[in-house]
Amino acid sequence: MKIFWNRTLHRFCSTKYFSTHATESISKYPRRIFSGIQPTGAIHLGNYLGAIAQWVKLQNEGENIILSIADLHSMTLPHDPKKLRTNILEMTATLLGCGIDPTKTVLFQQSTVPEHTQISWCLGCICTMPRLSHLPQYKEKSKDLKDIPLGLFIYPVLQAADILTYKATHVPVGEDQVQQIQLSQELARMFNSRFGDTFPIPHAIITGSEYARLRSLRDPAKKMSKSDPDPKSRICITDKPEDIVRNIKKAVTDFTSQVTFDPEERPGVSNLISIHSFVTNEPVDKICRDVQNFNTGQYKLIVADAVVEYLRPIQERISHYLSDERHLLEVLKNGQEEASEISSKHWEEVQHKLGLKFKIRKQEKIKTHG
Ligand code: AMP
Ligand code: TRP
Repeated sequence: MKIFWNRTLHRFCSTKYFSTHATESISKYPRRIFSGIQPTGAIHLGNYLGAIAQWVKLQNEGENIILSIADLHSMTLPHDPKKLRTNILEMTATLLGCGIDPTKTVLFQQSTVPEHTQISWCLGCICTMPRLSHLPQYKEKSKDLKDIPLGLFIYPVLQAADILTYKATHVPVGEDQVQQIQLSQELARMFNSRFGDTFPIPHAIITGSEYARLRSLRDPAKKMSKSDPDPKSRICITDKPEDIVRNIKKAVTDFTSQVTFDPEERPGVSNLISIHSFVTNEPVDKICRDVQNFNTGQYKLIVADAVVEYLRPIQERISHYLSDERHLLEVLKNGQEEASEISSKHWEEVQHKLGLKFKIRKQEKIKTHG
C-alpha cells in the first residue's frame, strides 16, 4: 500500500517552481518549505491533488516542511466559533489521514503562534492599499459583500507573514495562490531593502500535473470548489460511498458515448478519466484502451468504484484520528512548540531591524542606570 501511495503521489505531483527571479537571494538561506490550509469544511479531491498530496510527497522525500492550519484566515468572512473549533480538529485529522506525519513535518494551528500576527502588522505598515485591492481573490470574495471586513482585505499580508515568519524558501500551493505568493516576494524585497537583508524571497511550488486542476462534476467549465453551492459538483474525501457513486453517476459529460480523453473538447469525460487515472495510478491512454467497449454511463460506475476504493483507507485513518481528540490536541501542541522555536527567533530579529527592540547589552545598561 505504502509503495503504491508514494508512486501515485510521485506521478501526479511533478512540480514546477514559480518565481520572478529564480535564483534571487534563495541560496544563502536553508531550504525550508511552508504552506497553509484554511480549516473550512471538507477537503475535496481538487484540494487533495492540488495541495495536500504534494505536501505528503515533499515530506516523504525528506524535505523540511512546516504546515499551518490557517484558522486566522478562516475568520476573514463571518464564522461560527463552534464550527471553527470542530473544523480545526477535522482538518488536523484529515491531514494526518492523508499522510502528514507529525514526526517529520511541523503541523500547527496558526493562531497559537503570535508571531504571525505581529509580523503581519509590521508588513502591513510597508504594504500599500492599492496593491491589495488588485488581488483577484479579494475582488472575487468581496464582490457580493455590502460591508467588506478589513481582515478580508489584509488577508494576503497575513499570508505573507505566515511564510516570512519562518524564512520559508518554498511554498507549495495550488495555481490560484500564485498572486499571493508574488505579494509575499514583494514584501520580503521591500523589507530587505529598507531594513537590511532579513528574509529569503519565497518561491511558489505549483503542482505541474495536468490532473491537478480538477473540474466541477456539474459544470466542467469551472474548477471543483468548496464554495460551489451544489455539493454534487465535488467529491469530498470523507464522502460516503453512496454519495460518491451518485455524484459520479450524475457527472455532466456530453452526447458522445465513447470514452476518449480530450480536455478541450470533452472536459467532462476527461475530468473523470483524470480522476480515474489518479486513483488507479494508470496512465490515461491505457485507461482509454481498457474501457473502449464501455459507454460513458458504464464507465462512470467503474470510476466511482475506483474512487471509493482509493478513499476507503484514507477515510478509515481520518475517523480513527477523529476518535482521539487528545491525540489531535497533542499533535497541535507539539507543532506549536516547534514552530514557536523558529518564529520567536525571527521575530526578535525583525524587532531589532525595525527599531522596536534594544540590543540585550543596551537593555542591561538602561537597567543599571535606572
Ligand atoms: P481552497 O479550497 O480554494 O481554499 O484551496 C485549498 C488548496 O487546494 C489551494 O492550494 C488550492 O490551490 C487547491 N485547490 C482548490 N481547488 C482545486 C482544484 N479544483 N484543483 C486543484 N487544486 C485545487
Ligand atoms: N491562502 C491559502 C488558501 O486559501 C491558505 C494559506 C494561509 C497559505 N497561509 C498560507 C498557503 C501560507 C500558503 C502559505 O488556500
